[in-house]
Amino acid sequence: MTTRREANTGILAGAAAAATRPAAAQAQEPRALPKAQMDGGMPLMIALKLRRSTREYSARSLSDQTLSNLLWAAFGINRPSGDRTAPYWRHIMVIDVYLATADGVFLYDPKDHALVEYMKDDIRADTGLQDFVATAPLNLVYVAHGERMKDITPEDRRLYASVDAAFIGQNVYLYCASEGLASVFRGAVDYDKLTRRMKLPEQQFVTFAQTVGYGARP
Ligand SMILES: Cc1cc2nc3c(=O)[nH]c(=O)nc-3n(C[C@H](O)[C@H](O)[C@H](O)COP(=O)(O)O)c2cc1C
Repeated sequence: MTTRREANTGILAGAAAAATRPAAAQAQEPRALPKAQMDGGMPLMIALKLRRSTREYSARSLSDQTLSNLLWAAFGINRPSGDRTAPYWRHIMVIDVYLATADGVFLYDPKDHALVEYMKDDIRADTGLQDFVATAPLNLVYVAHGERMKDITPEDRRLYASVDAAFIGQNVYLYCASEGLASVFRGAVDYDKLTRRMKLPEQQFVTFAQTVGYGARP
């Protein structure tokens, strides 16, 4: 049973963490996304029927509106408290959602619902071991802040961060199913290579990646 004190510690840590941007992104002006459309989509049961993994993508890019809706569905703020569309461990914000695109790498800032440029390089090919990752328009990378997960073993850190990422991943799958987009959640990643390529600070680690785009087949 969580005590009030423990819960509050988590709430404070979560709130503080949510406002923190990585050093590399701090100097950048965020790129505002269009307001997310929260009243659309297909009925949940039909989206569940259509949910699947796709491994062939066209090069067609995603519009800003689609990106906005996708990111809000993934891990956007859905309550005045600042809480999210996906649950998260101990009320501590651990996962950052990065976007690897042809135009560079961006960090999703849910508070401002904006993208913060993180690096200009196209690192899509390094986000996974399968060929399609290099050409699909978007690879989401779910990065965990290990330093925020105190008093637990490294194994538990990876476990809880992975669960957080998986909930986000399922939100993405369902949004994609609803919108006729294609997606696959991926663990086939060269983690050391991607961590180096993204220049992640010590203690931050990649949990999983997820490709999003339009399927190559109708
Ligand atoms: C933890 C996890 C890791 C996965 N890693 C990969 C991966 O690296 N590459 C891939 O193509 N699919 C990956 N998948 C997708 C699964 O292969 C897929 O969900 C499964 O085959 C069932 O197919 P479906 O999603 O179409 O129902 C992963 C799924 C999970 C849950």
